[in-house]
Amino acid sequence: MPESSRTTTVLAISCLSGGSGKSTTVLNLATMLSEKGKTLVVDFDPQGNLSQWLGWTDLSESATIAETILPDTDRIKITDIIKPPTNEERSGRLLLAPSDYSLSRAADAIAMEPGRERFLKRALKPVLGDYDFIVIDSPPSKGILTYNAILAADFLVIPTECTNKGVMGAVSTVILVKELEELDFDVPKILGIVPTRDQWAGANQTRMSKAAIAALKEALPDIQIFSSVRQSTTVQQTNHVGWSLLEAGERALASSYVEVAEALMKAVKAHV
Ligand SMILES: Nc1ncnc2c1ncn2[C@@H]1O[C@H](COP(=O)(O)OP(=O)(O)OP(=O)(O)O)[C@@H](O)[C@H]1O
Ligand SMILES: [Mg+2]
Repeated sequence: MPESSRTTTVLAISCLSGGSGKSTTVLNLATMLSEKGKTLVVDFDPQGNLSQWLGWTDLSESATIAETILPDTDRIKITDIIKPPTNEERSGRLLLAPSDYSLSRAADAIAMEPGRERFLKRALKPVLGDYDFIVIDSPPSKGILTYNAILAADFLVIPTECTNKGVMGAVSTVILVKELEELDFDVPKILGIVPTRDQWAGANQTRMSKAAIAALKEALPDIQIFSSVRQSTTVQQTNHVGWSLLEAGERALASSYVEVAEALMKAVKAHV
């Protein structure tokens, strides 16, 4: 099949709460999806954590995703910024559109432009058909960058820390999607919520984690809540070397992400 005839599924990972496991979820899902088809990771967070985990710690000499959303003459094509992860040979199946702090300046530059919520969607157009999956990371707060990440996607996954703050972030994210829909934007289908950093003490789930997951189910009864990702220092270690949990042989820890990837494949089939 010629490369350009692929059907591209775009998945955004977003939650209006810091440290909720968004970038970790992107790393794990994108790596799994790259086993099924060619995958582009779009780092759309000025913190650039994902770019750093994938080996791009200094982007001062490189163009980044920021330049692909600028107005008119300053804008460059996304194909000019895509790079392979430096720290892992994945046979060209996993690629990165990197980001750094310059994305904040780009957000300011587009703030008064018409259609500013859809500049990432426009930037991705030339590579639709080149990839099977595009997975977008997003910043933790409400704003133009988060709207762009969500509105560029077909599907949305919301990682949520198992705390009160996490639950509030997930609920705010669902409300944001509803608000965007009411404003007649084409919004992604919410695939579900991934409770992350689920804390256990020995064989017992902590009361805080248990309460957070119960609160999610109660507040969002119509949304799929996937099984949780346990809190583990292994996750921090694998993130820092840009490995997914599966690549590190951590099957039990990765099981929630496997579940999400399977749900996505099912939803994509149903969508076609
Ligand atoms: N299951 C887990 N167990 C332990 N640590 C985790 C787990 N998931 C993520 N972390 C760690 O928690 C921190 C926050 O995770 P991550 O960066 O994925 O969240 P985020 O939502 O992208 O954060 P931000 O809002 O800052 O972008 C990171 O240091 C990460 O390594
Ligand atoms: Mg992040």
